[in-house]
Amino acid sequence: FIWRRSSGQKSKSIEQPKSLIVEERPKDEVDDGKTKVFADEAKARYDKANFKVVDLDDYAGDEDEYGEKLKKENMAFSSWLRKYGDGEPTDNAARFYKWFNENKESGELPNLKYGVFGLGNRQYEHFNKVAIVVDNILTDQGGKRLVPVGLGDDDQCIEDDFTAWRELVWPELDQLLRDEDDATVSTPYTAAISEYRVVFYDPADALIEDKSWSNTNGHAVYDAQHPCRANVAIRKELHTPASDRSCTHLEFDIAGTGLAYETGDHVGVHCENLIETVEEALTLLGLSPETYFSLHTDKEDGSPLGGGSLPPPFSPCSLRTALTRYADLLSSPKKSALLALAAHASDPTEADRLRHLASPSGKDEYAQWLVANQRSLLELMAEFPSAKPPLGVFFASVAPRLLPRYYSISSSPRIAPSRIHVTCALVYEKTPTGRIHKGVCSTWMKNTVHQEKSDECSWAPIFIRQSNFKLPADTKVPIIMIGPGTGLAPFRGFLQERFALKEAGAELGPSILFFGCRNRRTDYIYEEELNNFVNSGALSDLVVAFSREGPTKEYVQHKMMEKASFIWNMISQGGYLYVCGDAKGMARDVHRTLHTIAQEQGSLDSSKAESMVKNLQMTGRYLRDVW
Ligand code: 2AM
Repeated sequence: FIWRRSSGQKSKSIEQPKSLIVEERPKDEVDDGKTKVFADEAKARYDKANFKVVDLDDYAGDEDEYGEKLKKENMAFSSWLRKYGDGEPTDNAARFYKWFNENKESGELPNLKYGVFGLGNRQYEHFNKVAIVVDNILTDQGGKRLVPVGLGDDDQCIEDDFTAWRELVWPELDQLLRDEDDATVSTPYTAAISEYRVVFYDPADALIEDKSWSNTNGHAVYDAQHPCRANVAIRKELHTPASDRSCTHLEFDIAGTGLAYETGDHVGVHCENLIETVEEALTLLGLSPETYFSLHTDKEDGSPLGGGSLPPPFSPCSLRTALTRYADLLSSPKKSALLALAAHASDPTEADRLRHLASPSGKDEYAQWLVANQRSLLELMAEFPSAKPPLGVFFASVAPRLLPRYYSISSSPRIAPSRIHVTCALVYEKTPTGRIHKGVCSTWMKNTVHQEKSDECSWAPIFIRQSNFKLPADTKVPIIMIGPGTGLAPFRGFLQERFALKEAGAELGPSILFFGCRNRRTDYIYEEELNNFVNSGALSDLVVAFSREGPTKEYVQHKMMEKASFIWNMISQGGYLYVCGDAKGMARDVHRTLHTIAQEQGSLDSSKAESMVKNLQMTGRYLRDVW
């Protein structure tokens, strides 16, 4: 955040300092944010400071305006968790970020005082990159950094990072904003528990059942909030019966919906909780599934009863529907959820224990007992049976919204214009407490009934998220694709596209695909199709690594080393390199292998190899779709 005192005024005489909090967050992010929490807390602490939250995209109409406004206003920044992509800003920050980087030497912000908090995950290579860059440029421009940049780490506990950062911010802000007559300013602010006002309906006139997702929505543009209803046209298992895992091939029917996609895009899928999960939640809440209700915020600005922040309300529906579609019941609850449960626990011992887990002294226990053990919200509620929050609290403060899941589309509209193909590995694992964790969306996909089987087929609200993971415009440019497991998905789309282009008479450059799986007999997905792509000339070279066939592990990067000179030649000819799949292991190892190849094949020293790979990334010739 950036704060600038009005020029020439002493702190005592500040009447209405305006402070703006600017947030960067993906448009499709439905969860509520740290920015709002921060703004609420700031408003509560400093009566006279006029804090406002603004979406970065709405902040300025064009680039010049960014410059003018940055000079004039008092501002705050927070950078949002990027759940996908490769160290890029979120969509709503792209325009600002580009302009900001291009004008970083202007030195035009000598009066600004600022702080930045970023939300990221240390497992990823570009950990909190946007926040770090923004923080550095603000200093370069003459801004005064009030507190070190906050690096929220979702791999540990982002809430603790955020709390620790805020504790550094308040004393600084006290200095700047303190009204010396106001003794209350340094009183710690305790976040209130947010709550909706709930209106109940008689089940007899339950005409209100949620219709919001039952039809094509009539919007010109589909997005996370306005998804498109799509039937499941095809579902099939991709692993052989010899496999002890499962991977689903699913096709959404988008004929006549107006929904369009490009090869390499992602599809967002709003999924549903399993019936057994919903039943368990109903039992724990002690309420009837036929409770019909709607959620309301009474204040004009939509702020909730009790203050704090709220996930968006949903249309009136039954409790069964609400728990099925809107409640994330299987993630580990946040500390704020523990406090909300504590406030509604009739047993004081349970309430105390919940409060302890959410407190600074319970930090290690929270990290171990709850997070490391992957205890779900339902598991937690089962441990604290006296905690029965009312619905207005449950949907505001206890269960976060069930978020859409994103998949790299595994088809090309050139081959499948009215279908969106998804390739999805089943998430099914035992947690440390012995619970079987069934991935919400992958389990839903595996259990879907497709059109060919029944007219009453499964459907889901879906939408497209554009990506920059695209084939080069010139079909003759060489391409190298690396995608083990379901990382193959976008490359199946690429190869469909190349096949269609070839059929239409285009001349194709050379292409190589590195695919990896455990065993040829169990999980070599799309084997026949890949061979057909080779036979038709859409793919020049198919290289497969089987990790569990021989005595030692064979991974895609080992195969890359065997083909090092071929890869180097393709890159030297202006080739593009694509990596898709697991970010933490595979993509990191492949990245290292690329360095080694550049060093060995190009006779480059380590730093030259590094800048060469960086350059490939900067020029958009090394693209990653990793998760
Ligand atoms: P494994 O499960 O036998 O270790 C698709 O998931 C394939 O990627 C599997 O064959 C898996 O092998 C392999 N894999 C696991 N970790 C990897 C890594 N760090 N780099 C490349 N491939 C990896």
